[in-house]
Order: sequence, then C-alpha cells, then structure tokens
Amino acid sequence: MTPLLSSVILAAALMSSQSQSRTLFDYEGIQLTREYVASLSSEDAELFGFGDEAFTGLAVNTTTPRCRCAPGDGKWPSDKAWNKLSTKLSTTNALIRTIPQSSVCYGDTKNDAKCKDLTTNWSNSYSHMDDPTEILSPIYQGLTCVPPTIYDTVNCTLGGYPSYVIKASTVLDLQLGINFARNDGVRLVVKNTGHDFAGKSTGYGSLSLWTHGLKDILFIDNYADEPSYTGPAIKAGAGVQAFELYKAANDHGMVVVAGEGQTVGVMGGYIQGGGHSPLSPIYGMAADNVLGFEIITAIGDFITVNSATNPDLFWALRGGGGGTFGVVTSVTVKAYKDMPITTASWTLDSTKIGGKERLYAAVKVFIDNSSKYADDGATYSYWLLLPSADGKSVSFVMQPFFAPNKTATQTTALLSTLQTKLTSLNIPFSPKITEYKGFYAAWQAQFPLEPQSAVNTAFGSRLVPRSNFASETGRNVTFSVFKDAVEAGQPIIGFTVAPTLARGGNADNAVNPAWRTAVIHAITHRAWTIPASPSTILATRAALTNGIMKKWRDVTPGSGSYLNEADRTEPNWQQSFWGDKYAKLLAIKNDWDPKTLFWVNQGVGSEGWVVESVDGLPNENGRLCLVNKTTTMTTTTTVVAAGAEEDGTERILRAF
Ligand SMILES: Cc1cc2nc3c(=O)[nH]c(=O)nc-3n(C[C@H](O)[C@H](O)[C@H](O)COP(=O)(O)OP(=O)(O)OC[C@H]3O[C@@H](n4cnc5c(N)ncnc54)[C@H](O)[C@@H]3O)c2cc1C
Ligand SMILES: *[C@@H]1O[C@H](CO)[C@@H](O)[C@H](O)[C@H]1NC(C)=O
Ligand SMILES: *[C@@H]1O[C@H](CO)[C@@H](O)[C@H](O)[C@H]1NC(C)=O
Ligand SMILES: *[C@@H]1O[C@H](CO)[C@@H](O)[C@H](O)[C@H]1NC(C)=O
Ligand SMILES: *[C@@H]1O[C@H](CO)[C@@H](O)[C@H](O)[C@H]1NC(C)=O
Ligand SMILES: *[C@@H]1O[C@H](CO)[C@@H](O)[C@H](O)[C@H]1NC(C)=O
Ligand SMILES: *[C@@H]1O[C@H](CO)[C@@H](O)[C@H](O)[C@H]1NC(C)=O
Ligand SMILES: *[C@@H]1O[C@H](CO)[C@@H](O)[C@H](O)[C@H]1NC(C)=O
Repeated sequence: MTPLLSSVILAAALMSSQSQSRTLFDYEGIQLTREYVASLSSEDAELFGFGDEAFTGLAVNTTTPRCRCAPGDGKWPSDKAWNKLSTKLSTTNALIRTIPQSSVCYGDTKNDAKCKDLTTNWSNSYSHMDDPTEILSPIYQGLTCVPPTIYDTVNCTLGGYPSYVIKASTVLDLQLGINFARNDGVRLVVKNTGHDFAGKSTGYGSLSLWTHGLKDILFIDNYADEPSYTGPAIKAGAGVQAFELYKAANDHGMVVVAGEGQTVGVMGGYIQGGGHSPLSPIYGMAADNVLGFEIITAIGDFITVNSATNPDLFWALRGGGGGTFGVVTSVTVKAYKDMPITTASWTLDSTKIGGKERLYAAVKVFIDNSSKYADDGATYSYWLLLPSADGKSVSFVMQPFFAPNKTATQTTALLSTLQTKLTSLNIPFSPKITEYKGFYAAWQAQFPLEPQSAVNTAFGSRLVPRSNFASETGRNVTFSVFKDAVEAGQPIIGFTVAPTLARGGNADNAVNPAWRTAVIHAITHRAWTIPASPSTILATRAALTNGIMKKWRDVTPGSGSYLNEADRTEPNWQQSFWGDKYAKLLAIKNDWDPKTLFWVNQGVGSEGWVVESVDGLPNENGRLCLVNKTTTMTTTTTVVAAGAEEDGTERILRAF
C-alpha cells in the first residue's frame, strides 16, 4: 500500500508542472479557429461560430421550443445553409444527403441485381460498416428501408436515419458540424462503425458526424505519462477498427487491448464504454489502458485530455460511454510485448450426448468453475448456449477458450478438472487445443465474424459477480436462471472474463464498477415472429426485460450491465451501467455539455430528453424532445434513486 499511496501523492504533485507533448495527426492540425469565425459575415458566423459566442444563444432560442428541429420545420436549416456547410468542409462531397442502402430495392432507384446482392450479404457485418448511415442493429433505425425479403417493408423512407452526414477527414469538418448543429438546434449524432447494440449512432432528423475515415495509426516507442507509465504506446484515429489496430501492433511485435470482434471501432464507442478484450484477463478493460484523447467539445473547441490536462474528462471518457462528452478524434493507448496464446474450442450437443439434462449437467460444471477460469486461470472464454428452434435440443459452443501467455500444456491442465468430471459423467470431451506464437494469429484464426443483428430480436445482458460462485447455492441459483433463459428459447452469449483492478491498467476511471467483480458477462436475446404489431413487439420486449432479465438481476443484486452490449430499455440504467460513479459522471457532463448537444439513449445526462418514436417502439425514428415536465418528475422519483442524481436532473432542466 505504501509505495502505491506515495506514487499517487507524487502524481498529484506533478500534475501542475507536467505537460505531455501533444502529438497531432495531420488531420488534427486542420482546425476551425476563432480568428476565422471572426472573419465571417454575421450570417455565417451564426452558423459556424463556437458555442461560447454571444450569438449562439440567439440561434438556439429560435428553434422549436420542445424538440430539436426536424426536416419540414420552419426552423430546419435552409438548403442555402446546408450548402454553406458543404462548401466549408475540407473535401468536396463530404456532406452526404442520406440515401439508405436498401433504396436499391424500392421505387425509382430500384435495381434488382443490387438488391439481390444486398439481400445475400445482409447478415455480413462488412456489407454495412462502410456505409455512411447503416447501423448493425437496424431495429433501432425503425426498419423503414430494409430489403423486402429480410423484413416486410413496403417502402423506403428515411425513418431513424440521419438527414445528412459529414464524412469527416479533418478536425475542421467535425468542428463545423458541431457548431452548425448546435447553433441551428439540429440533432447531432456521431457514427463510427454503427456497431452499437442499441442504435446510439443514428437518429431521425439529425446531422451525423461520421468518423470512420480517421484511420491514422502512429507507433510511439517511449510515451511518457510520468510517474505512472513510460513505455510503448499507439495513437490511433477515431475510425480505426480492431482488425487494423491489431495488425499495426503486430507489425511492431506488440499487442493492444481491443475487442474480440473484427470490425468493432476500437476508439469510438468501444473504448469509451469500457471495452472487454481477450487480453482483459491480463491488462484489464481497454479503457484502463488509455493514456490520452484528443476531442472536440460541445463548444467546438479541440482539446487534449489526459492525466494532466482536463483530468475530469479523462476520467469520464474512460467508461462513461460514447456520444456523450464530445467527439473523440484520436486515442493513445498502452502497447505491450506480444505473448504466446493457446486456445481451446469444443462443441457439446444434447442430441449427441444423451439429451438436454446431460448437456445442462456438463455445461454446469464449466459455469460452476467460472471464477477458476477467469481469476486463477486468467483466461477469456467466449461461449454460446443455443436452444434449437423447436426447443428439443441445446448445444454449447466454445469459440474459443482463449488463454493469453499460456502453453498448450498449461491450458490442458487448466481444463483437466472439467475433463475428469465430464469423463466421469460419461460425456465425451475432446477440446481442440492450438498453440500460437503470438496474439494476432490466434485472434485472426479463433474469433468468428459476427453478423448484423436480426430484425426481430431484443437484447439484454448482465455482469455476474464471482461471489455467485462462492457457494453451492449461489452456483445452483445462477445456473438455474441461465437454464430458464435457454428453456424460454433465448440463446446465451457468454464471456467468462475478469478484468479486475489487480491485473493491470489504470482503473481510476468511469468503467462500470460491476466489471471489477464480474467473472461472466452474459448476453441473451428474445425474438418475435415477423410480421408483428408494435404491441406484440412491446410485449416480447417486456418478457425479456421484466422476465428473464429480471431473474438475472434478482440473482446478481447490486451488479450491473455492460452499456455497450445492453438492453435499450434497461431499467434503472444509471445504476446498472455506472453504479456509484453515475453522480460524478453527471456532474462532468453538465460542466462540459450543459445544453445536451450530445445525446444518446441512456447516456450520461440523457434523462431530460426522449425520442418520440412514430410507432411507439424504443427506436430512433422520431423527434428528440424534452421530456414533458410531469414525465420528468416521475422519472426522477422512480428511476433515479440517489439524491445527487436528482440534483443533476434538476440541473439539466435548469441549464436548458
Ligand atoms: C459484432 C460485434 C462485436 C463486438 N465485440 C465486442 C468486444 O469484443 N468487446 C466489447 O467490449 N464490445 C464489443 N462489441 C460492442 C461494442 O463495444 C459496441 O458496439 C460499441 O459501441 C462499438 O463502437 P463503435 O464506435 O464501433 O460503434 P458506433 O455504433 O459507431 O458508436 C457507438 C457509440 O459511440 C459513439 N461514438 C462513436 N465514435 C465516437 C467518437 N469518435 N467520439 C465520441 N463518440 C463516438 C456513437 O455516437 C455511439 O453512441 C461488439 C459489437 C458488435 C456488433
Ligand atoms: C429567448 O427568447 C425570449 C423570448 O423571445 C427572450 O425573452 C430571451 O431573452 C431569449 N433568450 C436568449 C438567450 O436570447
Ligand atoms: C455480396 O455478394 C456478392 C454475390 O452475390 C459478392 O460478389 C460480393 O462480394 C458480396 N459483397 C460483400 C461485401 O460481401
Ligand atoms: C412511399 O414513400 C413515398 C415517399 O415517402 C410516399 O410518397 C409514398 O406514398 C409511399 N408509398 C407507400 C406505398 O407507402
Ligand atoms: C468445478 O465444478 C464442479 C461441479 O460443480 C465441482 O465439483 C468442482 O469442484 C469444481 N472444480 C473446481 C476446481 O472449482
Ligand atoms: C508471461 O509468462 C512469462 C513466463 O511464464 C512471465 O515471465 C511473463 O511475465 C508473463 N507475461 C505477462 C504479460 O503476464
Ligand atoms: C445444487 O443442485 C444440485 C443438482 O444440480 C443438487 O444436487 C444440490 O443439492 C443443490 N445444492 C443446493 C445447495 O441447493
Ligand atoms: C408531451 O406534451 C406534448 C404537448 O405539450 C405532446 O404533444 C407530446 O405527445 C407529449 N409527449 C409525451 C411523450 O407524452
């Protein structure tokens, strides 16, 4: 304790004198300046001026009082204004008017060959992520333009897609977009890859800032964040995806903490929301490994955020969630020496091992030992528990059991009690064990390419603490609620991992404290049959949220859910996503964005606003409006429990 404490005190002492060098990418050097704004005509200055300029208040005041303005409103920016925005951007055609990808299946733009291609490739995440407006959870767009054989759509309308997108290639582009949206009362959204589970990277009537093209990567041999870290680091642009980052690190014989998913945008929602990784058993959450950010604030300023500069934002951006505090343009993270990896994969199928009860017994042995694999074993396992469509059979797929810095011999030893137990149950168990020299080859070979989300399912997730596995009763109760999900036709996607404080990284940040006690992150989803009426969909969603998910919550009191892979209608989400860190996050949000320019569903400080969707379903197909006062009161008293949070909610309303 003593050396740690003294280093904390030392860090505090150094805070004021320290000035880390600010290395900017070329695209970060191209900025909007106050001098430039001062040179504009007053009409243009109103469109593009920074948020601290006197005229901004006037512009905001001219918008529709209760909602962000929308296409067709008198207050919606004129074509002339949009055109001015377009011509000020750093490249031509960077302002894109939304054309839904599936418009090739409808109306005047119908092209049968292209529609057929899109339909064939629909479930492949690669066929959506390079599109300016497509998201991977199309349900939350409102499903207003989907190939007709995928969903029973009869037409193609914009729905919850943004109206316009800025394809950003410089900081200037993003600053212009932020200032334009704020000054004109237009809803602003940020999209990177569109992987968010809950549709937080889209919105009706919005201007979307698309960061996908910011792909620069810089390897830094010796980054100094004294006294806490000196060593190798990688600075990566906001658009860099896992497959690109891992490759760049590997080219230097290094690894970084990023996700298992190939196409996830590492420096956008992933890392800002926490980020679990196959390397988390050794180095913690991705957010624990951040050294600094470059971001653009709600005012439009481009600033550095690290342990010495704007430390409040540094704390909040590491776990507080994407789309909430500003637009991140690059992130610098620690890099580590590569290490050997061993993986094991296996499938158990009830039809081959003598029925469902035997399958459950076998899976229970594995799950009962979660703490052993996650804590003592320091492994990351990614598994599926899948009921068949008719409910008659169940399979368990391990894809894979990932053991960083372990040999095949060590991994086999770790699985030996499972082997012994299954053998004694007369269940054949022969995992495929593969040893790799380094991380990159193991990651490439072992993790699946995950598909586009289905158009008829809702997700929920829960972090299960290690205390659940400390007693036989706890193990039984935990397994029984997992089994209830599977018996209700809901698959489980499980991650057995413990990104604990002890194992590395700087964990004084906004990451959900429930991650620190967790040994399983379990996701499930519930489907409805299409076509379905809104009331059927709402009933199915309720059966998920208040049915199976309530059982999961009840057996994990005080724990939470991972905000990046969660239920869009998660109850008591402030506690669930951030626990006791919420009050501090809300205070930081109110300091940096008191007018809630950056709003995402269930984001920090989002309580004052709601999307009034046209079909009454939880999605982005409707205007973003201030919550009606009476509703706010209800929300404040029933959902927001702590006193500090009530105070924060009031502050939002007052600030507006
Ligand atoms: C196939 C798949 C695999 C996944 N694998 C993992 C995994 O291994 N580990 C894990 O922890 N999670 C995983 N996730 C969840 C993932 O963390 C979230 O989907 C995350 O939101 C993705 O971030 P993104 O920037 O790519 O997505 P987007 O949907 O583009 O953005 C997500 C959120 O972040 C905001 N945002 C994006 N960029 C910025 C920016 N530059 N500045 C500010 N805000 C921004 C958006 O507004 C939005 O609110 C996976 C998801 C999918 C669909
Ligand atoms: C907004 O408009 C109202 C009424 O027109 C006016 O009283 C108020 O001063 C305006 N606020 C700002 C910040 O300009
Ligand atoms: C889409 O499908 C077609 C075949 O129908 C194929 O040629 C093409 O490569 C696919 N595109 C993607 C992005 O997968
Ligand atoms: C399809 O959408 C267009 C444009 O929004 C509208 O004019 C038309 O009436 C719609 N057609 C149907 C069949 O809904
Ligand atoms: C693993 O789980 C089984 C079944 O509950 C139990 O008998 C065994 O003791 C556990 N082993 C370890 C090492 O925790
Ligand atoms: C990996 O294992 C080796 C030897 O077992 C050990 O010396 C090293 O510290 C480990 N590395 C990490 C990052 O845990
Ligand atoms: C746990 O479940 C097993 C059956 O799987 C049962 O034999 C045992 O008695 C249960 N233990 C407790 C404490 O409930
Ligand atoms: C809020 O009130 C307005 C009228 O003031 C009404 O049009 C709107 O539908 C209400 N919104 C909700 C979500 O109740």
